[in-house]
Formats: sequence, C-alpha cells, structure tokens
Amino acid sequence: MQADLSPDSNDTSSEVDTISDYGASMDISSMDGGESSTGSVFSFDMRRDGDLFLKVHGRMFNAQNPLYTLPADEIEWGRLDKQHRVHLLALGGLYQAPETVTQILIPEFGVDKRILDCGAGGGNWAIAMAEEFPHVEVPDLIPLLHSSKIDWIVPLKVIGVDLAPRTGRPPPPNCRFEFDDVTLGLPHYHGQFDVVHAQSSANGIRDFPQFIHEMVQCLKPGGILLIVEGDLQLYGEDFEPMEAKFSPESSGSWMNRLLFETYSCAKFRGSAMDAGRFLLTWLQQNQELENEQGRKIFTPIGPWLRGDTEAETGRLMFIGELMRQNSKEFVRGWKPMLLEEGSLKTQWIGGSKAQMKNLPRFPST
Ligand SMILES: C[S@@+](CC[C@H](N)C(=O)[O-])C[C@H]1O[C@@H](n2cnc3c(N)ncnc32)[C@H](O)[C@@H]1O
Repeated sequence: MQADLSPDSNDTSSEVDTISDYGASMDISSMDGGESSTGSVFSFDMRRDGDLFLKVHGRMFNAQNPLYTLPADEIEWGRLDKQHRVHLLALGGLYQAPETVTQILIPEFGVDKRILDCGAGGGNWAIAMAEEFPHVEVPDLIPLLHSSKIDWIVPLKVIGVDLAPRTGRPPPPNCRFEFDDVTLGLPHYHGQFDVVHAQSSANGIRDFPQFIHEMVQCLKPGGILLIVEGDLQLYGEDFEPMEAKFSPESSGSWMNRLLFETYSCAKFRGSAMDAGRFLLTWLQQNQELENEQGRKIFTPIGPWLRGDTEAETGRLMFIGELMRQNSKEFVRGWKPMLLEEGSLKTQWIGGSKAQMKNLPRFPST
C-alpha cells in the first residue's frame, strides 16, 4: 500500500472514541464563510484578537478559520514532524528545483533575501530554511543577543504565516512566525519574497487558484513558488487507486474508506481537497507564472518496499515506518471533524487499525 506524498495519507491505530466521550462541540453554524472576517495586515495581538484556539472533542483547533479542521496542538505538531521527515526523504531535500532555489537565494550585498512559508504549521520547513540560508554569521550575533537593536542587525529572512503556528519552539534569529489567515490576502507582503512556499494547506483554502495568485503577488520578479499537496487516496503496488471497503463482506480497504469519507466531508465544507490533483493545471492557468513544473511522488505506508541498493531500501523502509506512524495520528486528527459531521463509524476505525497493523513487511512476490 502506498500513498501520494501527502499531508494526509492514511491510517488509524488510535483508540475508537464514541461521540458520548466528548464534551465540547464545534459551532457548525458559524462555518458558512470558511474564512474569518477581519483584515490580514497584522501579527497576533492578544488584547485585540482574544482566544486563537478552541477545544473540540478533546483536541485544540485554530479559532480563526473554521474551514481548517485538523488540530493545532502538540500531538498534531508531532505528526507534522514525522511528515516533514517523510517529505525530506521523498523529495531528497527541503525543496524542489534545488539548483534554481539556491541560485535565487545566493547572498547579494545590500539585497534582503526573503522566504515566505504560507501555512507553516509546526514550522519545520521555515526553520530548516532559515538554518540552511542564514546569511549572517551567528557567532557574531551572540554578544548582541540582548541588544535592543537585534531586529535591525539581524536581517529577517524567513516568515512563516499560519492560522495557529507552533509557539513553544523558539525559531532561529532569522525566522519568525505570524498568526494570520492567508485567504484574507497578504497585500502587506506583495513583491517582497524570493521564495514563497506552501505545503499541505489545502484543507484551509477554499479557492486554491486565488491562493496561488496571492502567493505569486508576494514574489519579487524572478522569484520561485514551491507548493506540495497531497491526495487522500491510497494506491496499490501497481500504482492503481485502491478500492474503498463498504461492508465487512466487500473487498477493498477500510483505510481507504476512512480517507474517502474524510475527503468528502472536507470537500463538502468547502476545502480545496482536490488541490493535489489539479495543482499543476492551476499553476499553468496562472498568467503571471512561467516554467511551471510538477511531479508526483508515491510513498510507501509500512516498511515493505525494497530498493535496488541497501541504502535505497533503508530510505524506503524508514519512509514507510514514518508514514505508518504519521497515519495513525492523522486519523486521530480528522476524527473531530468526522464526528461533527456525523460521519464517523467505529467499523472504519477498527478496520483501518487492523489494516495498518497487518501491513506487509515485505514486497509481495
Ligand atoms: C497539514 S499542516 C502542514 C504544515 C506545514 N506546511 C508542514 O508541511 O508541516 C497545514 C497548516 O496550514 C495551515 N493553514 C491552513 N489554512 C490556512 C490559512 N487559510 N491561513 C493560514 N494557515 C493555514 C494550518 O493551520 C496548518 O498549520
């Protein structure tokens, strides 16, 4: 079993919760717009913005944009840590088009190079980019760390924007995070970035081509836009879509059924859940972009796939194991939305758990 490289792949080894286990409930009546109504030219101000999180079915969620229905808590950030490592191993690095990106980001005297990460989440990508392209000698800064002029001395290099960025991990000096909803527009950032990036944010986006347009506006001339999106569909070893299971007697995969229901719920609520499939088309339709390129990457779930060399086998098995673990948390993360939509069936969870537990450890012969 394998999946499109996705935020959102598979699995389920979590305990089955019943609706009566939960106390709070999400206010579905307030979800019509999908986007919050305030302007977007700000970073978080507690006095003005009040609570940025709400608790639903035992998990914390962003309170700005109810379209986005994966949690924003330590469990989810732990999942995103694993997913980030999968992306690194599957892409072969932090970013697509490495020669172009490094060329664009070569330090130039007097030029402030900047990177924007839209939907930065746990901040793994933004922090890793800030560390890879510091453009400042960090040891020189140490005596200045307590100086009030530090913001002036350290060039701001990477900005991560998110509905609910992880706040418990201090970023390096050349990186910062903002609470904001990118669907409200980013006019304060237009024309300022050499690299603009978005990874796995489609659940919080209603109009993805408009999101692409907005990110393009944030680029400087000659800049590059990098997007990674997933597909809530499992594929077999033959790279054909797997069937969803609809009853204990039918063939197919419970896991795929769970993903199908998740996809349907999120799409019904207005999320651009097709982004992984239509991304290249939408990029090509954007009149301001040129040289659009795309590729599809499949990742194994479970350590069953082997490569031609020992090193490649090790890489694939590591990805597979990370994906298995990522998948378990992933299903737990979607559970509150499925419960709110009345779509969660314990049979899917139980079946998916069993399927993940019994994933093959070796390629089929
Ligand atoms: C699945 S996580 C991926 C996080 C990160 N890009 C990564 O790959 O690890 C998606 C993130 O996008 C953010 N997001 C979704 N819609 C957003 C929006 N409209 N504005 C800002 N952030 C958004 C979510 O809050 C969440 O942190």
